[in-house]
Parts: sequence; C-alpha cells; structure tokens
Amino acid sequence: MNLNNKENEFKKILNGKSFLNNKKKSKIFFAPINIALIKYWGKKDEDINIPMTTSISFSSRNLGTKTQIFLAKKDEIILNNLSVDKIFFNRVFEFINLFRNVLNIKCKLKIITYNNIPTASGLASSASGFAALTLALNDFFSLNLTPTELSELARIGSGSACRSIFTRQRFVIWYDRFAKPFEFKHELRKITKNMRAVVIVLDKKQKKISSRKAMNITKMHWLKNKNNIYGKWLQQSKKDILSLKNVKNWKDFGEIIEKNSLLMHEAICEAGINYLSSKTFKILNFVSMCRKNGLFVYATIDAGSNVVMVYQNGDEKKIKNALSNIKNAEILYF
Ligand code: PMV
Repeated sequence: MNLNNKENEFKKILNGKSFLNNKKKSKIFFAPINIALIKYWGKKDEDINIPMTTSISFSSRNLGTKTQIFLAKKDEIILNNLSVDKIFFNRVFEFINLFRNVLNIKCKLKIITYNNIPTASGLASSASGFAALTLALNDFFSLNLTPTELSELARIGSGSACRSIFTRQRFVIWYDRFAKPFEFKHELRKITKNMRAVVIVLDKKQKKISSRKAMNITKMHWLKNKNNIYGKWLQQSKKDILSLKNVKNWKDFGEIIEKNSLLMHEAICEAGINYLSSKTFKILNFVSMCRKNGLFVYATIDAGSNVVMVYQNGDEKKIKNALSNIKNAEILYF
C-alpha cells in the first residue's frame, strides 16, 4: 500500500482550502451503515479505493456510528467506552494523519466513538465509522467541505464509507471517486420508498479476513483467469445496475439484489475464501421458504456471515411474525 497516493488524493481536495485549528471539540456526528444492493467488490486502484464497478446502497436510519473529536494531550480512540487495539488505532490514525499532514497541523486528538452495530463483522461499521469521522474532522478543522468532497475523502478510509456520508438519504450510488444520493423513478419510486431492511446478526465476532484483503485475493484470482466467476459477476453487476433502475415490481427488484450478492459470494469462494456459515445457509433457506409462502423478502450479505433481509413496509407485521421463529440471532431493524 502506498501512503503517498493517498496523500496526493487528500492534497487534490484540501490544498488551498481555508481551515481553522482553534476548536477544543467537534460536534457529535452520526453516520449510518449502508447495505449495498448492487455490491462493490474489487478495486481498480487499491491504494485509493477506486471500485471496479458501480454500486447502489440503502442506508439505515438508526444503525451506525456516532463520533466526536476532542483536542487532547495524546492521540487516543475510545470505542464504545473502551480503548481500541493497535490495528484499529493505526487504521484510524493513518486516515487522520492524512488530514494533519496535508494541512500541516500537529495537534493531538481524542476520538470518542460509538457503534450500535457489531464492529468489523461484515455489517458496514467501517463505512459508518469513517463517514462519521470524516464529518467530525471537517467540523473540527472548520473545513466547510462539500458533500462530494467529504465523500471522496471518506472513500480513502474505507471504500463504502463514501456512501455513508449522505446521512439523510436512503439510496446512494457510487460510480468512481465519490458517491451521490440516488432516487428511483416511475413505478420504483413507491416500491423503494416502502423498502425496509432488517439485519440478522448471526456472528458478532470480527471477520478473519478483511474485505480489503479478500477483494485483493479475488481480483488476483481473476487476473489469472478472466472467465472465472468474478469475471461473470463484474459483467453481471454492470447489467444489474441498469436492471435495478428499470424493473417494474418488487419481486424483480428483490431478485436482482439477492442474486448479485450470492454471485459475489460464489466468486469469493472460488478464490478460496468463504464468509458464509451454516447459520447463513439456514437463513437463506428461511428466506426462500418465506417467499414460497407468499412473503416477498430477499437476502443480501456483505463480507461476513450475517444476513440483511429486505422487504416492503406493508409486510412488516408478517416479517416480525416470521422472524420470531429465528432463534439465537439478534434482529436489528434498519
Ligand atoms: O468498504 P469496504 O472495504 O468495507 O468493503 C465493502 C464491501 C461490501 O460490503 C461486501 C460490499 C459493499 O458494497 O458494501
């Protein structure tokens, strides 16, 4: 990984910007987790997180990260009232140092942050985490950056964080360097307005292979054989983006989402990594049983074993009823 490339990205945005370095603390910022409906998997540029394909995501209203920054005597991070390990600390401060180096600021910072979702278990905590941190740094240094600039900077911390910058919009699209809010049109306006999601937390432990590493391995595998499953997924994802914008009903919409995620996991498996567990497959069976019984719910899975189910608001009661049959899992409404 080349830190200079990251710093150059920061310079492009921050050079010449006015800023202040006189605050004792920032305001508290919340950024939501987002679940990709058409996923991002694989990078054109590994250092600065330029995606291979376009992704579209759905942001939570209530699940995510709250962060506040304080001027301090030493650099420190408190996550959910506890000190963090070295790996977490280094990843976050490598990002903060990009701001400090480019702006030539020496102050020490204490980051107080809370996640109301499990950290690093494939539930997008790095997306909400880096987005909330970027918003807080923007305030702390009085940078007054635009949402697009904030999205570009957050992307360097974690690719999918560029989609979590838009804290009030439900749907966000990420083409290349930054993400932007997205609205579905025509028949899909109502369907997407009524879309809801629920997270089935099957495993709160930190995932063994980071998405960064797994994306890299998947891409290396593909470079040896471009006709492999990842190659198919890349082609399919491009089609899925178009189809998702043009379908006319919820069933087609849901099917595209579910298939996109499953094909991504097949591609990851082919490269020798598996995020899915036997519990995941039980939930996938449960989802298809729901559909056989006329309840149109669809599943999508990020880099972990946990499952997110998407459904229509009108089915909420039936969903709650069906979910009461799932034991040993925490259920988090989006
Ligand atoms: O942004 P990262 O490095 O945490 O990668 C996210 C990858 C997926 O969650 C699997 C897909 C996505 O688009 O969010």
